[in-house]
Amino acid sequence: MCGIVGYVGGRPCRDLLVAGLEKLEYRGYDSAGIALLENGSIDTVRAVGNLANLRAAVGMDGDGNGGVAVAAPPATIGLAHTRWATHGRVTEENAHPHGDCDDRVQIVLNGIVENHSELRRELAADGHTFSSETDAEIVAHLIERHYDGDLTEAVRATFNDLRGHYAFAAMHADQPDTLVGARQECPLVAGLGDGESFLASAIPAFLAQTRDVLLIENGEIVTIDREGARITDAAGTPVSRDAEEVTWDEGTAEKGGYPTFMMKEIHEQPDAVAETIADRLPTTDGVDLSELELDDDLIARIRRIVIVACGTSYHAGLVGRYAIEQWARIPVEMDIASEYRYRDPVVGPDDLVIGITQSGETADTLAAMRLARERGATVLAITNIMGSQATRDSDAVLFTRAGLEIGVAATKTFTAQVAAMYLLGLWLAKARGGLGPDRIAELIAELKHVPSRIEETLESVDDRVRAIARSHASQRFFLYLGRNIGLPVCLEGALKLKEISYIPTDAYAAGEMKHGPIALLDESTPVVCVATDSPVLEKVLSNVAEVRARGADVVAVATEGSTEAAEASDQVLFVPRTDWVLQPILAILPLQLLAYYIARLNDLNVDQPRNLAKTVTVE
Ligand code: AGP
Repeated sequence: MCGIVGYVGGRPCRDLLVAGLEKLEYRGYDSAGIALLENGSIDTVRAVGNLANLRAAVGMDGDGNGGVAVAAPPATIGLAHTRWATHGRVTEENAHPHGDCDDRVQIVLNGIVENHSELRRELAADGHTFSSETDAEIVAHLIERHYDGDLTEAVRATFNDLRGHYAFAAMHADQPDTLVGARQECPLVAGLGDGESFLASAIPAFLAQTRDVLLIENGEIVTIDREGARITDAAGTPVSRDAEEVTWDEGTAEKGGYPTFMMKEIHEQPDAVAETIADRLPTTDGVDLSELELDDDLIARIRRIVIVACGTSYHAGLVGRYAIEQWARIPVEMDIASEYRYRDPVVGPDDLVIGITQSGETADTLAAMRLARERGATVLAITNIMGSQATRDSDAVLFTRAGLEIGVAATKTFTAQVAAMYLLGLWLAKARGGLGPDRIAELIAELKHVPSRIEETLESVDDRVRAIARSHASQRFFLYLGRNIGLPVCLEGALKLKEISYIPTDAYAAGEMKHGPIALLDESTPVVCVATDSPVLEKVLSNVAEVRARGADVVAVATEGSTEAAEASDQVLFVPRTDWVLQPILAILPLQLLAYYIARLNDLNVDQPRNLAKTVTVE
């Protein structure tokens, strides 16, 4: 999740733009850049690493001997960007802003352009030359292709060429009074000041300058100048909308208007999943994971897959195991990394070992990956952080694109990891003939619906989850039950509650209940049961009957329309219907919220729980 800032006004804007980027640091980044337009020419400076490097490069660190001083302070129009790399390595060339062939156009973009490869080929055939590996740069060249003296129209034509999940802002050297932005899914807002206007991917970027905000909706083009902002749609029809006054304090602003980072990140899951799957599902024929550069022979001869991870990442791996075995029919072994590395595992050349770690720095997972690699296995890392150690301790990397996660309790990185496992499962299923083309197309179509269904679920269950949290917040023990692909969901739900509410919680395969844990139950024990549609739903419901017979109070997470699950439980939380293997990515949402509200009702710091660190680099 990159950060975009744009300004046009009467004030010198270099410092304003960099200050705006600093307010977006929580979005995470690995490089940054700025472009300022003065006297008909644009000066662009980009720097890898943190904003201090950009400040030095633009001579803002006051010792005057910083890199290249950019276009003397007078510039009053410009763009700036913090990059969270998705396409192309972390380099100065790949940092934004990006220009067209003559650098008359500059753009900054957040998100993913899905059809960037075909557009790049087209533009190259027309003689355009590219200076970066990014998907974003093609936007500058498309604007160059369409530009005929009106930047708004050139951006509109470009917008209609693009497919994906993005927001961008553009500047043209011939139009020193205008910036134009466009939005498709990724956030974009305009800030309206006195004789000046801003564009940004989030309100904190300009909140210190103005509290008058104009929200830009999907499919809209926004043109700003010193007088204000005008919105039009993809066809050019004007859209009227009033600006709103934002009353947030700085802290809330940083959390995007949410009270905590965890709640902000729970609500960023539609974006995190959408960006993680975006351009990897160019068609419904199959998944494009060419970025892994794993050759077909290797994929064909994989005898076994071993997944190693810790904590929440381990639970995402468990969901992945079901998907890969179901779809690709390759045996999958799972192990907690801290166990795997010390059990002298039998692993070798025909094994694919997958290390899942959002931070990319978890010591036990890295050690398990290294051990497997030393023994000849091919190691694939699934991580959220470019440049992390996991990317160096592996032969291939599949990046999730959840953006920086600040809350210690993983939420959006979990659903992004599960989405990545689904991509891998479908990719292997096609490569190994585990599924036919119709079934693959069906599952890809369902996967593409997941981001909007996550949004729908977070909205539809919120009130009910709050009510259940109120009635259970003082409980001193919870039991979570699940079976088959529902088991990893209940393990993850239980971990969330433990992590942030400190309430003792047990999670069990429901079929195991009668072999002991059922003794824990009494008439007040809350039992949370994952009972979404699956081949074992009937079994799950009979386990629910077992615990209810002992007076337990059952809260079930079920697939919408599942009357039998509703009848079998005391309270039910419905999630939208989708393929049973995909249900976990929705079923976890009510459980994240339940843990969250119970912790909040107990007045606990959910972003920084006791005894926990976001990244565990010790063994
Ligand atoms: C999850 O909420 C915890 N923060 C923790 O269990 C975490 O998942 C675990 O430490 C693994 O971290 P990683 O994904 O960065 O390797």
